[in-house]
Amino acid sequence: MKILVVGSGAREHTIVWKLSHSTKVKEIFAAPGNAGTTMLARNLDINPNDIRTLLKTAIEKKVDLTVVGPEVPLAEGIVDEFQAKELPIFGPTKAASQIETSKVFSKKLMQKYNIPCAPSNIFSSYQEAKQYLVRQPIPIVIKADGLAAGKGVIVAETLKQAQQALDNIMLERVFGAAGDRVVIEEKLNGREMSVFSFSDTATSIPSMPACDYKPVFDGNRGPNTGGMGSYSPPNFLTNGLYEKINNTIMQPAVKAMQNEGLPYQGVLYGGLMITDTGPKVMEFNARFGDPETQVVLPRLKTDLVDIMLAVVNKKLNQIKIEWNNKACVGVVIASGGYPSNYKRGFPINGLDNLDDDILTFHAGTKLDEAGKFITSGGRVLTIVATAQTLAQARERVYNNISRIKFEGCHFRKDIALFDP
Ligand code: AMP
Ligand code: GLY
Repeated sequence: MKILVVGSGAREHTIVWKLSHSTKVKEIFAAPGNAGTTMLARNLDINPNDIRTLLKTAIEKKVDLTVVGPEVPLAEGIVDEFQAKELPIFGPTKAASQIETSKVFSKKLMQKYNIPCAPSNIFSSYQEAKQYLVRQPIPIVIKADGLAAGKGVIVAETLKQAQQALDNIMLERVFGAAGDRVVIEEKLNGREMSVFSFSDTATSIPSMPACDYKPVFDGNRGPNTGGMGSYSPPNFLTNGLYEKINNTIMQPAVKAMQNEGLPYQGVLYGGLMITDTGPKVMEFNARFGDPETQVVLPRLKTDLVDIMLAVVNKKLNQIKIEWNNKACVGVVIASGGYPSNYKRGFPINGLDNLDDDILTFHAGTKLDEAGKFITSGGRVLTIVATAQTLAQARERVYNNISRIKFEGCHFRKDIALFDP
């Protein structure tokens, strides 16, 4: 088979890496990929949002399966376009992607189908939202309805912060039309967990949960990032909790989409808060998480191609998905200044000095003219180790990550040391 993977992050490098283990795979293309994917795939210089060129390329190169990493091409309807040409593609349609692309849509879905989530209200009028806000207990959470590159959620600890967030979203329109509507919801307390399940519209198979560390600095301090590290399985995951998540959240969500006439095909990501009164949804995403994928896929025993084909061909009920019992820890090395401004183009040293059991997934990396790795983004690499215990996996990662150096590089020292 020839497979096309759309995207350029460490998530996509991990997907390429996992797919490359399948005996069914002859060739992999990454669009656009990164310096890491060049080792396993042919990089194609195509913007992941350029659906027309992706479609043309998939036809020309006789691609048998396309896998979409990021949310924007899903939101733009890449799956609809490919399906219209009968090209197999892994991911939900534009309409089904609304579960991620509209927080108002997903909130209404959860309310209608009794999927546990924070009590909330939806506003399309700034004045009404503003008046409502002053009567609410603080802290409170303000969410822009649409996609905002992970920046559209503000957990406000004071009324002033909440008002500022509302002004930014609805008056200043910092996220454009994504801020036409807002969801204002109660702040949930507990521990965060990300869960992924595969769905072929009718069958949904629970996948492995992971924890994601969003703030940039140790101790969960500093501004939020795309994710500075991850581990799987979560320390606080019990069989009972796992079943409850699947029975009260993940399976009902897939059924709800089916009921609404928006059958969901692909991987569904539940961003959950495990509260004293049980697991609750903070958000759904229509794709794999980054950096969670980097610690979830190394634990997958089943051929990922088989799973993705079963999703695309609606035969998920015919396969069994197996995971190993090991612990996996991934730590992100970022450019100096990230998540704010940072410089690119620094040589990355030490990558050839890592132990054999360490996985290196690239994100913001490029090859320079001499064929050496240089930095080209905010999150540069995810370094991953798998071991019998979480403590061992942690030790392996940190032992190796300190050998990697580039100007300004930084990483969190406390991934998997405490629960996020
Ligand atoms: P989301 O994009 O909706 O997952 O929100 C991003 C981050 O904001 C989450 O990972 C949480 O840390 C936080 N968050 C979102 N909604 C809530 C909530 N209702 N209560 C507490 N934290 C929240
Ligand atoms: N790790 C968060 C996300 O992928 O949205």
